[in-house]
Amino acid sequence: MEEIKESRATGVKGDASKFVPMSLTLGRGLDIGTANLVCAARTTDGETIIRAQRNAFMDIVSNPFTKNMLTKLDVNYVVSDGALCVLGDPAFEFANIFNRNMRRPMKNGFISPDETDALPMIKVLVENIVGHPREKGDVCYFSIPAEPVDMEMNVVYHKGIFQGILRRLGYTPRDMIEGHAVVFSELADEDFTGIGISCGGGLFNVCVCYKTVPAISFSISRGGDWIDENVARVTGIPVSRATFIKERGVDLTNPRNRVEEAVAIYYRNLITYTLDVLKHEFKHSRSLPTFPEPIVIACSGGTTMIKGFEEVFREEFEKSDFPIEVKEIRRAADPLNSVARGLLVASISEE
Ligand SMILES: Nc1ncnc2c1ncn2[C@@H]1O[C@H](COP(=O)(O)OP(=O)(O)O)[C@@H](O)[C@H]1O
Ligand SMILES: [Mg+2]
Repeated sequence: MEEIKESRATGVKGDASKFVPMSLTLGRGLDIGTANLVCAARTTDGETIIRAQRNAFMDIVSNPFTKNMLTKLDVNYVVSDGALCVLGDPAFEFANIFNRNMRRPMKNGFISPDETDALPMIKVLVENIVGHPREKGDVCYFSIPAEPVDMEMNVVYHKGIFQGILRRLGYTPRDMIEGHAVVFSELADEDFTGIGISCGGGLFNVCVCYKTVPAISFSISRGGDWIDENVARVTGIPVSRATFIKERGVDLTNPRNRVEEAVAIYYRNLITYTLDVLKHEFKHSRSLPTFPEPIVIACSGGTTMIKGFEEVFREEFEKSDFPIEVKEIRRAADPLNSVARGLLVASISEE
């Protein structure tokens, strides 16, 4: 599916109606996540607004009735080679209704090599949420993963694809690693010094920063998806069911059944693993700053939204014999949008 013949995009969730180029200042922040695409912009009144979509699509049987129905329901879709694909949030709804899995353009933080239609779909998804620039050459910061410690991945290709998409829309693209963006949004009061961790669906991204300058950054190819896949495997339920149960509300400190118990076990394991890698990097990095004062660790991303996340993180941190002094472990106030907000701050600082 290389060429898209027809595309229709409205009804994007978030502050869609306010996303009119003339009512926005210059600068955009675009968080390109495995699970969600989030765009932040600022209005001329100084208000930050957010537009978001699931990074997913699903092909459905096309007939004249479906297309009319989708138009009536205000659902985003594209038609290509006679196939009809719904995009973004509706893909999740359709998948649950028809008991199928949605198709996803990205996997573990990068464009998925296993999904043949990844490129045309993600192009339309990005265009829909970023929209047109206010002026040609307007700066758009977009997030890229830091080099994974546990997987061979091509950051160059991934970055090049999104630079191309944004340039064709009329933006000047600038990339920023995801953990760095967390520092920009969460650690302003600390003069952008400390550790930012973005806990997403496909990856955990870590950045150790001193006065805006990243000293250590890396990613781990585990996140919410990894938890869901493992929970599904050990309990014998479908992955989408595991996701549903996890997001419905589990308390990590008080699991009530076998599936919730599995969620809690994998969560704790993922947090310990992240702290272990961080300690290892601290030990072996030559670029580690000597922090004059105890620092803050800020966590953001959808995976931090589970009840008990901070408690478990603090417990594991206490056990970890961490090599530097930490005064506070903090969760972002708006975990799903924190990276996009940080990228917007970066683009506005540049303008
Ligand atoms: N309430 C919740 N409890 C636990 N996990 C959640 C919750 N809401 C979303 N998630 C998880 O957060 C992840 C998506 O977070 P996000 O930061 O958007 O990821 P990405 O950066 O990879 O797009 C998914 O794995 C999703 O299951
Ligand atoms: Mg993310």
